[in-house]
Amino acid sequence: MEQRLTRREWLATFVKALTALLAFVYGIPALVMLIVPAFRRQKVPWVKVGNASEFTSGEPKAVTLSYQRRDGWVIRTVRSTVYVVSTSDGSLKVLSNICTHASCAVRWERDRKAFFCPCHAGYFDASGKVMEGPPPRPLPEFPHKVEGGVLYVRLESV
Ligand code: FES
Repeated sequence: MEQRLTRREWLATFVKALTALLAFVYGIPALVMLIVPAFRRQKVPWVKVGNASEFTSGEPKAVTLSYQRRDGWVIRTVRSTVYVVSTSDGSLKVLSNICTHASCAVRWERDRKAFFCPCHAGYFDASGKVMEGPPPRPLPEFPHKVEGGVLYVRLESV
């Protein structure tokens, strides 16, 4: 038995098919534009620390840095304190101030010439090596560079 579409039914089917096609053509790119940024992570940027000439005292100097970082849809301000250490050969090191034992903040103790972690009495020397206490590893060192006399650091997970 043959069933024929009326002109009205044929037009309704055509409009539905056209609507579905347009939704597909415009919907997919819109969905991609919405979803892709959620999975995109920004590269860790170089953050300006200061003029390299400021860090020649021979004593570690604390610097608190702040920068904006985008993770997917979220833009957050990252604040981090680092210690800049000038070594005996004149080069610089940028150390984390986070203890490798249980992540407490260390501080430089001028009298003892060491970083002290108050949580469990851990000590690190000026290069970040463990001297005493429970810390299992040296203080993490961040990648850094000096360009045009300015010190930059990359605060990536270390
Ligand atoms: S957290 Fe630093 S010694 Fe335990």
